[in-house]
Amino acid sequence: MRKTGNVRIGPASQSRTRKGVFLTFEGIEGSGKTTQSQRLATTLRAMGYSVLETREPGGTPVAERIRTLLLENVPKNRKQEILTPECETALVLAARSQHMTHQILPALSKGMIVLCDRFSDSTLAYQGFGRKLDVELLQTFNHFVTQGLDPDLTFLFDLPTTQGLARRARSKHQNRLDRETQAFHRRVRRGFLDLATEHSERIIVINGRNSSDHIALTIENIFTTFLRAKRVSKL
Ligand code: TMP
Repeated sequence: MRKTGNVRIGPASQSRTRKGVFLTFEGIEGSGKTTQSQRLATTLRAMGYSVLETREPGGTPVAERIRTLLLENVPKNRKQEILTPECETALVLAARSQHMTHQILPALSKGMIVLCDRFSDSTLAYQGFGRKLDVELLQTFNHFVTQGLDPDLTFLFDLPTTQGLARRARSKHQNRLDRETQAFHRRVRRGFLDLATEHSERIIVINGRNSSDHIALTIENIFTTFLRAKRVSKL
């Protein structure tokens, strides 16, 4: 059993239904994680692995509705009811609970490789470091909704916030959190990097400034080595 902050994560709870591999992609806005998750999924399928591509918040019909509530931009001519940090946290956790039970755990129990675009590290980085909520309390909440499941491996895409936000500004899909202050996004980036230091056995930092092809090759090499070491079979 190992200790994460004040939360004990026991092997019994994690291995209960688990046969597959759980890989997460994390990073600030515009870090390129979504593109890389899609590229890796295509490569793994071509190699014969069975893959579930999913995302947070989201991944089930109910969780996608929560995502809309969480990320929608209210038109400027409508008075916006500001979401409190606590409400924001409750929404991401509610979505995660649905996602765990209805998508992630069933796929892992079938032996699939689950590629998830964001997961519980995002809650610690955004709501903990970004919104300045208590990180240990968030770890306890995460443990509650994940049923004690940590990713096997996490790729953290890192680059300066100015570059990430400039990429997002060019996109049509800017969400409510994209519009937060530079200071907020800098705290989120710092939070992710602190988590990578604390969990260096699980989180691999990828330089998001490299070319997309270079990054795709790097993560393919790391992940296929990981699969061979774990003797993960093709279904
Ligand atoms: P993205 O999927 O385009 O990255 O957008 C998801 C947004 O949701 C992003 O701004 C980060 C935010 N988020 C949180 O604030 N907390 C969380 O726990 C998760 C999973 C996402």
